[in-house]
Amino acid sequence: MSKVQPYNPKNFIIKPNPVILGIESSCDETAAAVIRGRELLSSRIISSASEQAKYGGVVPEIASRAHTDAVDEVVALAIEDAGITLSEIDGVAVTYGAGLLGALLVGVSFAKSLAYALGVPLIAVNHIRGHLAAAYLGEPELKPPFVTMLASGGHTAVLHTLDYSHFEVIASTCDDAAGEAFDKVARVLSLPYPGGVNVERLAKDGSPNIHLPSCLVREGNNRFSYSGLKTAVINYCHNAEQKGEEVNRADVACSFQRAAIDPLVKKTVESAVALKVGTVTAGGGVVANGYLRNTLQAECRKRGLKLVLPEKKYCTDNAAMIAAEGLIKYLNGEFAPLSLNAAAQIPLGN
Ligand code: KG4
Ligand code: ZN
Repeated sequence: MSKVQPYNPKNFIIKPNPVILGIESSCDETAAAVIRGRELLSSRIISSASEQAKYGGVVPEIASRAHTDAVDEVVALAIEDAGITLSEIDGVAVTYGAGLLGALLVGVSFAKSLAYALGVPLIAVNHIRGHLAAAYLGEPELKPPFVTMLASGGHTAVLHTLDYSHFEVIASTCDDAAGEAFDKVARVLSLPYPGGVNVERLAKDGSPNIHLPSCLVREGNNRFSYSGLKTAVINYCHNAEQKGEEVNRADVACSFQRAAIDPLVKKTVESAVALKVGTVTAGGGVVANGYLRNTLQAECRKRGLKLVLPEKKYCTDNAAMIAAEGLIKYLNGEFAPLSLNAAAQIPLGN
């Protein structure tokens, strides 16, 4: 029997235009994608969202079992779509956090086994860094510095991206994230899971005629409070109910959407102008919101800023963004040991 080559993250040779397989399993999407350098070759998703919708949100055990069912199939589909063979893969990038532990472990374990079997480096990707790297899929020539709007289910911030691996936080939320607020308001409005996109749909039939507080608060305007905004929506609905008045749900959705997005867009654009950075990018599930995209586009145009927006399908969870961030780490030689474990929480900067 031939001797198994020991896996040593220090022994790999870095290739200039590598083929990276990305794997994502942090929540309810099992996803795989292949890139060659900055070129996206394939991106596949198998989602358990319709199953989760029956319970009104993500049930962690259902998510883990769905990933176990789907991970080999989604990887095979991504490889087939890319028109490559397994032996052409130069690195396996996987989301190791943040997310649901049991869900993450499925992707991490699969990626470890594959990297080991192929004799290629394993690359540990922070899910949120993946959302930020989605911008590179939108424009392969994109280079830092730029100002980034991050609006996801777990984070909301305006960042000054200094180079491929470093950024400074210009403004961030002091409580809930924007996506979390969309999901909570969806519940208040009795909208089904997934909340954010359903708030957007309902908002199309409404007017922004309900006064809600700005989510940009305190300390030189560099703190957002989405919990305060969500509470204002709850109070508005509650007061109307107590007075026996009918709540126009579409108006609530529309007013909330504007209150959640306008200050974030304003802060992003003003930061780019103040820092004299000519390019703006955005990432995270909330960036799939049509109102956000249109408003950001219009404000950037007004200020003469170049906007690089990932397509909507690369704003919500996908593996193309994990491969894109994996490429950055691959080129830096940042390879993970096979003892890599999943982490439910990771600081934004890691
Ligand atoms: O970025 P993401 O995957 O979350 C984290 O990784 O933390 O995005 C999920 C979030 C959810 O809160 C979801 O409601 C929100 O993105 N979202 C939206 C839309 N699509 C997804 N929010 C507003 N409008 C949308 N169209
Ligand atoms: Zn995500």
